[in-house]
This record gives sequence, C-alpha cells and structure tokens, in this order.
Amino acid sequence: MRAEFFSGVDEHGCVDGVSLASLADAFGTPLYVYRAAAMRAALHAYHAHGLERQVALYYAVKANSNLVLLRLFAEAGTGFDIVSGGELERVLRAGGAPSSVVFSGVAKSDAEIACALAVDIGCFNVESPAELRRLAELAASAGVVAPVALRVNPDVDAGTHPYISTGLRGNKFGVAIADAPALYREALQLPSLKVVGVGCHIGSQIRAIAPFLAAMDSLLPLVDALLAEGAPLEHLDMGGGLGIATEDAPEVPSAADLSRALLSRLGDRPLRLCLQPGRSLVGNAGLLLSRVVFTKAQSERRFLMLDAAMNDYIRPALYQVRPTMLNVSRPYDGAGRMDVVGPVCETGDTFARDFPMSGERGDLVAICGTGAYGFSMASSYNSRPRPAEVLIEDGKARLIRHRESLEDLWAQEVL
Ligand code: LLP
Repeated sequence: MRAEFFSGVDEHGCVDGVSLASLADAFGTPLYVYRAAAMRAALHAYHAHGLERQVALYYAVKANSNLVLLRLFAEAGTGFDIVSGGELERVLRAGGAPSSVVFSGVAKSDAEIACALAVDIGCFNVESPAELRRLAELAASAGVVAPVALRVNPDVDAGTHPYISTGLRGNKFGVAIADAPALYREALQLPSLKVVGVGCHIGSQIRAIAPFLAAMDSLLPLVDALLAEGAPLEHLDMGGGLGIATEDAPEVPSAADLSRALLSRLGDRPLRLCLQPGRSLVGNAGLLLSRVVFTKAQSERRFLMLDAAMNDYIRPALYQVRPTMLNVSRPYDGAGRMDVVGPVCETGDTFARDFPMSGERGDLVAICGTGAYGFSMASSYNSRPRPAEVLIEDGKARLIRHRESLEDLWAQEVL
C-alpha cells in the first residue's frame, strides 16, 4: 500500500505516531485529521533541485482555509491565492503578509476590492474588462495604485473533470487570449493601475505537465510582446492545479518536475514564476475519520453506514470521486464488497459503491486524501454540525477547530 494514498495511515492505524483510535476517542467522529509534516514536505517538493531559480508559491486558500494551516504556510514563506474578502481576512488573521496575497475571482465586489486596496495586497488578478475599469476607478478614488495582472484564458484543455476545468475558451474565467493585448494596453494607460504580471489557471487535479506547458506556450508570445513594449512585468503566474496521486490514478507528475519544466520553458526572461497550488499541498495530508454506525444487507447489496456524510465531504457526490478508504479497525477479509454510505437523506450520499471493505458497527474508517476541498466545502446540510479538525505535528495532535455545536447551527437565525 502506498502511504500517500492513505494519508500516512500505517498498518497499526497510526498517523505520524498518533493512533487514529485515540483521536476518535478524544475528539469524536467525524473528524478531519491533518499532518503538518506532510504539508511541509509537499511544499518542499516544489523546489527543483539543481536550478538557480525557484518558483514562488501562493497557497490557494480555498483548498483548506483553517487559520492554523494558513499560519503554517505563512511561516514557511508562501504567499496566498485568495478568491474572496473572507479569504483575505483569514490570511491576515493567520499572520500572512498582505503583500504576499494575489486576488483571483471573476466577480470581486466593490467592498472586497476596497478591503484589498486598503491593505495593499500584492496583485489583483483581473478577469474582465469591466473589472479592470472598476478596479481603476476604486483605486483612483482611494488615491492608490493597484498592482494588476490579467488572468488570461489560454484556451487549453487541462483534461480534468468538467466542473474544475477553467482554461477553456467557453469557461467563465479570465480574459480571452485574443483580447488580452488590447486590455493590457488600456491598463498601461491607467494611472491608478500598475501592470505587474500575467496570469492563468487552467484547472484542478491535472495529471500531466503537458497542459501547463501548453498554457505557458500560449502566454509567452503575449509576455514577450509586453516586455518588448516596456511593460513593467515582474511575474508570470501559472496558477494551481497539479493533481494528487489517488489509488485509481496513482501516477501524477512530481511538483519538482512541474517546477523544472516550467522554469526551463520560461528561460531567461526576467520574471518571477509563480504557482498557486492548493490540493497538491494539503490533499494527501488529510483524512476524514468516521465510525461505522450500522451495517445492513438488503437486495443483494451490503451497506456500511458511516457517521460521516456528503455534508462533511461532498466530492464523491459532486465530482464522482471514488476516495481511498481504509477500515482502521480491521484488515479487509477479502469477503465481498460494500457500499459505503453516510446518514444524509439522499442516495447521492454514497462515498463508494462496491468498495473492497468489510466492517462492523463501531469500526473506524479513514476516508483518505481529503485534506483539500474537504472541510472547506463542508456544510451543515441535514442540520449536521460540521466536524472538528485536528493537526498532528511533532507526534502530537491538537484541536484546530472545535466541532460545531447544535447551537451553532441556528445561531444566526432570528426567531
Ligand atoms: N488558483 C486559482 C485561481 C484557482 O481557481 C484554484 C482552484 C487554484 C489556484 C488551486 O487549484 P488546485 O491546486 O487546488 O487544484 N472543489 C474542487 C476544486 C476546485 C478548484 C477551483 N480552483 C474539487 O474539490 O476538486
């Protein structure tokens, strides 16, 4: 078994020396469990050995926005890719530097832009002519100069799930590559804007380097033309999107190979190369720990019913992802397969059908590879409080988010 698919769970049911059973006893289930060492290792993996230049990393906050993880990344020297005013506040609360923030998103509100201008973020990744003009107005009225890059849509197929492909012409994202030169020319004329970069982001859970290189090839003529015209470009941002290895699709390029390939294609252009990884930094560093509530056999199917559900981890229901799962309490006896489901009142609340797992009431099941887009997409659907989160660091586990209480569920409601 390849440890990365199992988020570091060993044959004794331990993660970095801490037993999952002890975590379930101490913190209850369902419970998100993250490993600091795995996140640091994933960061480090982006460094391509033997090269003079390295990529600059901007952690995509949406993947997992817990303050403790943001602080870990800030302390490790990464910047942050944000997509909302809420994510900006989180980064600031966690101690991230405003200058290390890049702000993506197709529909930034005036209030969000104003907050980002007020703290002087590193770069606005602008996604439309209308946004460019609005940003210029708001910056001018605030008496500041906004650093901008256009998020260019390179019309590249990232070969990923249609919901998370973003770099195709028909997607809502970015400025069409054909329209970018004119919009850059406009931006260069606006005194309240400073053009600092060119950006793109083509999708997520990408399993090959070729689409990244295709995107870069499509952007480089624009970059070269802008440099030749004297635009004060400082960076080229190739976005996030590198996939993680899963049991179904174990082969993904390494982060170092991606960095190396992109740096070498960039050549000696005087630009910082930026990436905005989310999933590849936290995905396999986290798991969702749950307990078997009941089992049942019905109409030739056998069900293993967990206390975790689609509200805790929605990716199987939303993107038809089949997670890697492990019964931590007993080895698989090879006897048949089970449908692993949650308690929510929808058939879509199924983690996997026909999964090679046996189990009994009370067993602990780890749903692995859920550190990214797990908690951050969780909801309280069915009035289920969202899970607690713990971080394992230096052989110790600490609570980094309390389990929601029932009172939390209706705290904002007005009776
Ligand atoms: N930068 C931008 C502008 C993005 O939109 C995204 C992700 C990233 C970076 C980070 O991409 P990553 O390295 O994590 O692939 N909820 C979906 C994923 C949505 C990704 C959206 N954008 C999922 O669970 O698969």
